[in-house]
This record gives sequence, C-alpha cells and structure tokens, in this order.
Amino acid sequence: MTEKKRILTGDRPTGLLHLGHYVGSLKNRVALQNTYECYFIIADLHTLTTKPSKDDILQLRENARLMVLDYLACGIDPKKSTIYLQSATPAVYEMNLIFEMLISLNRLTGLPSLKEMARNAHLESDAIPFGLIGYPVLQTADILMPKAHLVPVGKDNEAHIELARDIARRFNQYYGDVFPLPEVLLSETPTLIGTDGKGKMSKSANNAIFLSDDPKMVEKKVKGMYTDPNRVHAHMPGKVEGNPVFIYHDIFNPLRDEVEDLKTRYREGRVGDVEVKEKLIIAINRFLDPIREKRREYEADKGLVEEIIYEGTEKMNEISQATLKDMRSAMGIGGAWNKISRVARERKKQAIGSS
Ligand code: TRP
Repeated sequence: MTEKKRILTGDRPTGLLHLGHYVGSLKNRVALQNTYECYFIIADLHTLTTKPSKDDILQLRENARLMVLDYLACGIDPKKSTIYLQSATPAVYEMNLIFEMLISLNRLTGLPSLKEMARNAHLESDAIPFGLIGYPVLQTADILMPKAHLVPVGKDNEAHIELARDIARRFNQYYGDVFPLPEVLLSETPTLIGTDGKGKMSKSANNAIFLSDDPKMVEKKVKGMYTDPNRVHAHMPGKVEGNPVFIYHDIFNPLRDEVEDLKTRYREGRVGDVEVKEKLIIAINRFLDPIREKRREYEADKGLVEEIIYEGTEKMNEISQATLKDMRSAMGIGGAWNKISRVARERKKQAIGSS
C-alpha cells in the first residue's frame, strides 16, 4: 500500500460554526478524510495576532471545545483524522522562528489578507503587531509540521499557502530536501451569503445560521430572511437569482422538484415568501437533524471531546519532534551546542578523574 498523502487545515477557534463553514469547508473535510491522512488544527495561537488580551485567551478554552464539537457533529471522525490544539505543540514556536528567516518582510506586508485582518480588527497601520505580519509564517509552521502535501482552504487563504510553499522551497534549497512543497486545495464552493443577503455569512455580521441552532431558532432566522427587495406582494414576479432564500434551497433542499416548482411560481408571482420560507425551514432542519443527533452523542459522553483533542495533540507532538529533528540536522543548527556540550562534559570528566 502506498502511503496516503497528508492534509493539514483548520480554523481559529472564534466560536460556533455556521452553515457557511459547512458548505465552505467542513463538508469537504469530511469527504477528504477517507482518501488522505488528515490533520485539523485548532489555531488558537493565530487568534492572538489580533486578540492577545487575557480575556481573549480565557475565551479560547470554550471556543476550542465548541468548535471541535461542531467538527465531530458534522462527521469528522477522530478514528480517521487528527484534531489538535496548536498552542499545546511547543515545536510550532521554534519552527516559526526558523521560517521567519526565510521570507522577506516585503512579501508579508504585500499580502492583501494582512490589510483585511487589520481592518477587521480595527487596527491602524501603525498599530499592526509584528505577530500579525507574521501570521502566514506561523501558518507555514502548522503546515510543514506534519509535512503536509495539501492544504484545503478558501480563496482568502490561498496566498498564505503560496507563501508556505515559498518558505518550504527556500528551506530545501538552503539545507536539503526536508519538506514536500505544500499545495493549495481550493474549495469550489464560494462563501455562503448571509441571511441578510448583504454579505458572506459570519458571526460578526449577525447573519448566520449556526450548526448548533435548534429548530425553533432556524425557523426564526429563516422567517426573518431577506428575499427579493423589489417584490412587495406575492402576486408580483420575483427574482430567483441571487435571492438568498433560493440560494439556500439550492444547497440544502434535496427535493429538486419542489425547488424547481417554487422557483417557477416565484418568477411568475404565484407563490408568497411565506411558503418558500416554510419549505426552507423544513429543508434546513432536515439537513441539521443528523448533525444534531451526532452532537448529542458526543455531548452525552463526558470528557470525550477533551480526550479526542488530547490524543490528537499527543500524536502531533510526536510528529513535530521528528520534523524538528530533521530540520535541525539538515541545518546543523544544533552543531554549536553539541560541540560546546561535548567539550564541557569532557572537561568535567577529566576534573573528576584528576581529583
Ligand atoms: N488561517 C486560517 C484561518 O483563516 C487558520 C489556519 C491556521 C490554517 N493555521 C492553518 C488553515 C494551517 C490552514 C492551514 O482561520
């Protein structure tokens, strides 16, 4: 059997995951775990780049647990995949420092994602932390730690994977072949529009349906959804394209005939928003039901989520030690210390012998 290719990806634990996360990444990850050796990082250190306060840090514990519960509920299988906590892998700090030497500041400051992250965090350009500029370098350490071949991410992270590739290439050029060059695996589904129809679904925009929402909450959110703003009553022809209610129907309602019928009638002004939404509520709840069921199973087993993260982190720590060893010996970075300690030990031995 040939060895499976390795995948590494993950998220910052910012809170509950929503339908946008599902269509954008989770669904894809669940499928990938059958073909690849998958590693999923809980990138808590990355949150420090914009939120380093003690309160922010305290928040991470609960967020990490909730996020992993979302992963598991969606079908990420801890028997197949490794889920681990970034801040509990000491090697990442060391690798990060080495990789910082292999990329120019210009390359980092030129990334549009840096400006985007600074803007989202309301940081003026003169208040951007050094660590935020280094965000993609830390991400490179994550990716190269298990010598990942593929990194499934959205478009917004694509440039970071290219950068990781550049750093890996540079490392190999300087010190010898240690790392496979990681490749980006772009998710095909673009970001999901929010319930307000204004922008992409996100917690901060208050337009998200969470994977952990109960049926009543889904009902409330769908009822409040934005549709065709120009259609003021049900007898007017409405626009289906770009209409969030129909975008969701297309994704979450497996009853194709029902969806086509609703679209036809909507275009002809023969159906009200109420019916379209009622059917969408049913569809989304049916979609979420098995996820809810799995969540209940994992929640009922006290400590199981913690055990899964613990074992995943132990496994990653073993892997990371092996990678660090490869790095150090390729670089010869331990050489000075080895020589110093050899000479010092030798001298001690002689002192004992002559006394
Ligand atoms: N940058 C990712 C995000 O947008 C999170 C992340 C951290 C990541 N390390 C990674 C993604 C390594 C892929 C691979 O939240």
